[in-house]
Amino acid sequence: MRDRTGRECLYVPSCRFGLYLALRHWCRPGGRVLMSPVNDDVIFFVVLAAGLRPVQAPLNARDGSIDPAAVPDASWRSLSAVLTTNLYGNPDPAPALRDRCDTLGIPLIEDAAHAIGSQLPDGRPVGDYGDASVFSLSKHAGAKAGGFLTVADPARRSALEEARDDLLLPSRALSELAYALRPYAEASVRGLRLVRAARAVQRLLGLAEREAIRMPLRAAELERAVTGAPALGLFHSWVRVDMHTYRMAPGAARLRRSARLLDRLDERLAAHLDGTRRLLDSPWGAPGPGSGGSRGPGFVQPLFRVPLLVADRDAAIAALARRRITTGYLYDPPLDDYASALFTDPSPDPAPARWFARHALPADPLKAKQVLAVLRTDGIRPAEGAAAGLVGPYRDGTGG
Ligand SMILES: Cc1ncc(COP(=O)(O)O)c(C=O)c1O
Repeated sequence: MRDRTGRECLYVPSCRFGLYLALRHWCRPGGRVLMSPVNDDVIFFVVLAAGLRPVQAPLNARDGSIDPAAVPDASWRSLSAVLTTNLYGNPDPAPALRDRCDTLGIPLIEDAAHAIGSQLPDGRPVGDYGDASVFSLSKHAGAKAGGFLTVADPARRSALEEARDDLLLPSRALSELAYALRPYAEASVRGLRLVRAARAVQRLLGLAEREAIRMPLRAAELERAVTGAPALGLFHSWVRVDMHTYRMAPGAARLRRSARLLDRLDERLAAHLDGTRRLLDSPWGAPGPGSGGSRGPGFVQPLFRVPLLVADRDAAIAALARRRITTGYLYDPPLDDYASALFTDPSPDPAPARWFARHALPADPLKAKQVLAVLRTDGIRPAEGAAAGLVGPYRDGTGG
C-alpha cells in the first residue's frame, strides 16, 4: 500500500476503525464534521463515537458526490473536519474540499473504502488529498477484513500506531478459524442453493442485524451513548454491524489471505473497470458516476458498485433477488432522515440526496452481464432523465 499510495500506511482491522482513529487524532471532542448523508450508517456511528456531531452535506443528484458550492458559509465556519465518502468509487471533489479545509485550517479525511482504484479528474488517486485517507480491504480486494490508514505527514504515523494498538482487541483463535473457513462454508451454501435457508436461520438466531436497509437506530440508547462519547466501546453494537471483528488484531490467517488478495488487486480492478463500462453503457447508466469529468467522456473508473438509476429501485432489487443476485450497499433514506436533528445537522438541501438514494441501484460490476440481462428481461425502467444526463431531484416529482 505504501508503493500504491506513495504515503506512510498503517494496517487497521477495518476501514471504520481507521476512520475512528483518524477522527480521534485530528478532531477535538465536541467538533462538527461535514459528511455525506448517502453513506453507510456504520460511518455515522463512528463519527458519533469519536465525540463529534455529523453535519450532513448537500449532494449532487447525478452521482451522490458532495456539492461543496451548496454548503452554506455559516456551516463551513462551524466545522472541525470534512469527511468524504467517494460513494461507490465515484470521487468527491477533493481539490475544492482541500482548498476549503486549508482556508479554514481543518483536516480533510478521505474515506476511500469504495475507491481504491479511483482517480480524480486531475489524475491524482482518491486518497491523495486527505490529511488521512482510509482504505478497506473488504471491498474491491474482497478480503472481508482489514484496511489501511494512510497519512500525508509521515511524522504522524507513530502516534496513530500507538492509538491503534491501545484500541485493538486481541485476536481470538475461534474467530481466526471462522475467518479461514468462511469462503468454503459460503461456497457450499451457494453450491447447495441454500442461500435463502441460511439467511432465515440467521434471522431465527438473531444474527441478522439489518431487517431493513438501515439498522435500527435505538434512539434512547444512542442518546445515552452520545453523552459518554468519545468512546468506541459505548458504540460497539452499532459500529460492529456487518463486521464483528472490526477492532480485532488480525491473526496469521487473516494477514495471509489479505496479502494474497492485495497482490491480485490490479486484476480485480481491471475486472471492475470492464464491468463498470458495460453498466454505464446501458440505459440505466448515468453519465456522472464513474466517468472522468474533465478527463474526457471516455474515462471510466473501476467502480466498486455502479449506481444504476432506475425508476423503481425496489422492483429492480426484487427482480435480481429472484435470480439469486443480492443487492447490497444501499444507503436509503439519507442519514438526516434516518437519524433526525437529535443526532445530526440536516442537509440544507436534502432533495438531491433523497432522489439519488431512492433511485440508485448499486450494481456489482463483476456481475454486469447477469444484472443487465435481468433488468432487460423484467422491463426495469431507467429513472426519468437518467440516460439523457438530465438527472435532477425534481424530474420525477419524488425529489422534494
Ligand atoms: C462508504 C463506506 N465507508 C467505510 C466502510 C467501512 O468499511 P469496513 O467494513 O472495512 O470497516 C463501508 C462499509 O461498507 C462503506 O460503505
